[in-house]
Amino acid sequence: MLLVPVESLRSGMALAMPVLHPERDDLTLLQTGYNLDDSAILHMRQFGVTHVWVSFPGLDELDEHASPRVNLGHMELLRVLNRSVDDLERRVSVKVNVHHYKRAVHHMLGEIVANPDHDPVTNQLAACGPSLAGHLANTAYLSLLIGAHLAGYLRNQRRSLPPDLAENTAQLGMGALLHDIGKVSMPEEFQSRCILDPEAQWPEYRNHVKTGYDEVRDHVSPVAANVVLHHHQRYDGSGFPRKKSLGSEVITGFEGSRIHVFSRIVAAVDVFDHLLCPAGKPVPTVIALHAIRGERFKGWFDPVVLAALCRLVPAFMVGSLVTLSDGSTAAVVHNHPEAPCRPTVRVLNKPVDAQGARASRQLDLRLCRDLSIAAVEGVDVRKCLYLGEFETPSLDAGLGAVFEAA
Ligand SMILES: [Fe+2]
Ligand SMILES: [Fe+2]
Repeated sequence: MLLVPVESLRSGMALAMPVLHPERDDLTLLQTGYNLDDSAILHMRQFGVTHVWVSFPGLDELDEHASPRVNLGHMELLRVLNRSVDDLERRVSVKVNVHHYKRAVHHMLGEIVANPDHDPVTNQLAACGPSLAGHLANTAYLSLLIGAHLAGYLRNQRRSLPPDLAENTAQLGMGALLHDIGKVSMPEEFQSRCILDPEAQWPEYRNHVKTGYDEVRDHVSPVAANVVLHHHQRYDGSGFPRKKSLGSEVITGFEGSRIHVFSRIVAAVDVFDHLLCPAGKPVPTVIALHAIRGERFKGWFDPVVLAALCRLVPAFMVGSLVTLSDGSTAAVVHNHPEAPCRPTVRVLNKPVDAQGARASRQLDLRLCRDLSIAAVEGVDVRKCLYLGEFETPSLDAGLGAVFEAA
């Protein structure tokens, strides 16, 4: 199967996965197997669907790859958040929804544990990004995914707890799900602001961590509440809140491993989600991954967490379409962690929306040094291709380095 932008769909393509309503996961717009016609394609556009999985000749090998259950878990988070952000705006207490948050987090955790090696569906993340609820759902999903792959690190960083409790990420999920909830009561012009904007320096913006913390502290565990308070602490000690910055209450800014590991995870995922959708417009994942490794964010993140994020989120998702440097269109069929920007692809014989289009010749881009990926859905990514060998160390290597330093 192939992930096709809605603009490139044509009549006769058959859906390989159900199409859910972008904002209401209780509404399935079209079922698996549905044969698309012009009217269905038009309706999907009108509903704001951006991509759909279709069966595609030559790509049957990918049918096992996507994990619809994880997608549904992510949509469940989004549904709960859409409702609760709505409730908060209408000044219904956070307390009302804590039960639903917990259920959604446990549901998502269960799906991740059952499918630990699925590729995060980053196109879905970017599609959710511009709204606060979408951002909270994305952050919770990716934070839980990273937590699931860093069990050893969590045990190390939470040594005062028995191993099974140290590995338990339910409070990570809760904290991530609520981390920006303080933005809801901000003046409207700040609500859409994020840490990447110049306005993030303003005290009004920075207060969202304390406002959020005050809103949730009596309703969730101290660990989850502290994620809300400290999700903008940076590993190098910058970030906020800073000591004595919050009126009469003294809150110390932390650095390094003094920041709770859950806050360190949410801090990295928070920025990454904003990078996926800067200025409200989704960009190819490779651009966000390139950016988060750049000079701008030097010192911001726990290196083990950053390495985990870069290793878990593929630069080019299996099943997605890319344009190669010779102008041909290809589908990504296999990723190589040691060379994240040189996946194995299958070249399409014709444009994806042409009659008779199929994936044929397979190329391992690690072995084709004269070819590279040039663009994703028309966006030039050549300046964002990165090497993986040393920039994404194996998690074991990352852990070793941190353990030695500790
Ligand atoms: Fe925030
Ligand atoms: Fe955030």
